[in-house]
Parts: sequence; C-alpha cells; structure tokens
Amino acid sequence: MQFVSSTKVAPDRTDVPRHVAIIMDGNGRWAKRQHLPRFAGHKKGVEAVRAAVQACVDRGIAYLTLFAFSSENWRRPAEEVALLMELFTGALTSEVSKLHKNGIRLRIVGDISRFDRRIQTLITDAESLTATNTRLTLSIAANYGGRWDILQAMSRMIASRPRDAAEAFSEQDLAPYLSMSYAPEPDLFIRTGGEQRVSNFLLWQLAYTELYFTDMLWPDFGPVALDEAIEWYRARERRFGRTSEQLQAERESDVVSEDRAASPFMQSGIDA
Ligand code: IPE
Ligand code: IPE
Ligand code: MG
Repeated sequence: MQFVSSTKVAPDRTDVPRHVAIIMDGNGRWAKRQHLPRFAGHKKGVEAVRAAVQACVDRGIAYLTLFAFSSENWRRPAEEVALLMELFTGALTSEVSKLHKNGIRLRIVGDISRFDRRIQTLITDAESLTATNTRLTLSIAANYGGRWDILQAMSRMIASRPRDAAEAFSEQDLAPYLSMSYAPEPDLFIRTGGEQRVSNFLLWQLAYTELYFTDMLWPDFGPVALDEAIEWYRARERRFGRTSEQLQAERESDVVSEDRAASPFMQSGIDA
C-alpha cells in the first residue's frame, strides 16, 4: 500500500496518532545522574523501549518508529559503539520471537551494510519472520540518517528511469524509494532528553509532523509520559496549510452529514 504525502492530501484527523516517531535521547545523562557508566543508561533504555512498544499496542497506535543509532553515532568512543552493537544484537536475538507472538512487524531502517554480517542476517531473519504481522509496525532506525535516506531514494529512483525520460521528478516518484515507504508519515514526533533538534532523523517524512520535546530522559519515559504527549498532540490544530476557518467549516459540514445519516427520515427513504 502506498501512502499519500501530507503535502498532497491532508490526512484525516485521528484521536490517537497513527504513527509516532521517537528520538530516544538522554541515556548517558540518566546514567551520570545515578553515578553509573553510560552503558547502564543504554541498558535501561532498552527496558524503556519494551514499555513503549507495549504502550503503543495498548493504545492502538499502528506505527512506532524509534531512533536507536544515527549515522553520526559512529563518532562516539569505540567502546560505546561496541556496547550499542552488543545491545542491538542481543535485542535482535532475544526479543524478536516475543514481538512475533504479539503480532508485531519489525522493520529496520538505515544503511545496514555498515553492520557486521551477523547483525545483517539477524535483521533479514527478523524482518521476514514478522513480515505479515499487522498489530503494530515497529521500525528501528539504525545507522539511519535523513540525508542518507533522501540520497539513497534519489539514486534508486534515477537508476530505475529510462535515460531519455524528460519530465521532472515529483514527490510521488520519489516516495516509493524512501526507506519508510511502507508507513504513513509520522503524526507525532517525540524527543526526550531536552534537546530541541532533529539530529538528522526523518527529514523528508517530518514535513507536517507535530513536534513534541520533553526534558524527561529516555530511561524514565513510560506510558504516562506517552499519554501526556498524545494529550498535547490532540490539542494541536493540524492545518496542513489551510486556515482555522476552513477547518471549522469542514467540521460543521461533517456534523450535518452525520445528523442526516442518523435521521429516521433518511432510513425510511423520505428526504428530511
Ligand atoms: C541516546 O542517548 C541513545 C543513543 C544515541 C544511542 P545518549 O547516549 O545520546 O544520551 P545523552 O544524550 O548522552 O544523555
Ligand atoms: C540522536 O541522539 C540519535 C539517537 C537517539 C539515536 P544524539 O544524542 O546522538 O543526538 P545529538 O548528537 O545530541 O544531536
Ligand atoms: Mg544524546
């Protein structure tokens, strides 16, 4: 299924966001506060991931995307990178069957060619095992960068075109090659840890996403914090370029047509 971009058609309003994308930041600072080494923060962060996945399932959120390792995170000290790879391998080994039992489809987005062979195989196996699950699509962004995503999509799009094609490219031409083409664009973006930046996450896909920032550190983030973010999201007026008045008029005409549908006259075929 191909999803239409928010810049082309404004999506329907839903109370619960269909797609939540999270930058899970603050593991290191959490550990520092507890006088623990950084890796203790990353371990605790994995527990918060489990809780977030469950909370999204419980709330009927269809897509959850988590930024686990950015294309710039290779710049960290070698021991920390090695530990993060170990945690990733561990999760791919021990969590996948649980995800599968719970009807969760797992996708890894990012340039996985930079990971070692073992991780690449675990990724392919996990994705194929869970491919037909429909309860929640959990995407883990690993060695992901928003610029990498746009460039890889453009390269593949250009390669698939006949050499003499004359027309300019459109958004819809590019869309199928983006690494998250299987998901609608995020409705709600959450960044924990207090920074108000996107850090090369989903640059293309966040065009009309509501951006929520919280000082809470990722290991402390749980269902209550998620509900607060969703509450905040519900209070947004998503205009997608239109005016408030236009949205108000649309809502009023929806109410009128709902009243009409509920009218007994309509059911008996007599026009009210
Ligand atoms: C986020 O937490 C996890 C990763 C980037 C892998 P950090 O490790 O960035 O934590 P802080 O920002 O140093 O507190
Ligand atoms: C963003 O966090 C990436 C992930 C959470 C995986 P960082 O901690 O790496 O972001 P910056 O470097 O502070 O922007
Ligand atoms: Mg950080």
